[in-house]
Amino acid sequence: MSQSTASVITLNINGEKHTLPVDHRTTLLDALRERLDLTGTKKGCDQGQCGACTVLLDGRRAVSCLQLAVAAEGREITTIEGVADGEQLHPVQQAFLDLDGYQCGFCTPGQICSAIAMIEEHAAGWPSAVTADVRPEAEAAPLTAEEIRERMSGNLCRCGAYVSIVRAVARAAQADDAQQPPVSDELARLAGSEQKEGVA
Ligand code: FES
Ligand code: FES
Repeated sequence: MSQSTASVITLNINGEKHTLPVDHRTTLLDALRERLDLTGTKKGCDQGQCGACTVLLDGRRAVSCLQLAVAAEGREITTIEGVADGEQLHPVQQAFLDLDGYQCGFCTPGQICSAIAMIEEHAAGWPSAVTADVRPEAEAAPLTAEEIRERMSGNLCRCGAYVSIVRAVARAAQADDAQQPPVSDELARLAGSEQKEGVA
């Protein structure tokens, strides 16, 4: 019995439903870029190593090059085109803009999507590989620059704009009321600094 290799699927992207036929091997990244003209999400390595294709799936970050489009049906997909509120930039977008969190901008959509979810993950008490005390009963630690670097380590920047990226994430986290506990003093200083430093 022959089996179909294509299906008609409906993707919920940035609050809009898109119905399209796809080959079952189509990645979510290719569906976004090649089929739906949502080219804000970038293709870097196409093998899950650079983070350029990061989108949010049900609010959690995911590399769309490793996600099949058919498996994303029924999920709430948010791409860089959907993070602003109309003309109002998302606070993370605004912080990247204000603090030069980019150079060429190729990695920036993925960095921003990742940062949005990262800030929420920390606020929800999720530990990272550099969190000192990961016992369930431990008090949540303030967000630090080291935590941001570790939590954003899946997003590479070929331009090496890491110093400014960390500062921009710090600025956005500081402005986020959900951050409990708030950011560390060191990070608050970073967030407030407008001055550009050398490449990390
Ligand atoms: S393009 Fe998906 S991780 Fe690099
Ligand atoms: S700004 Fe150029 S790759 Fe990051």
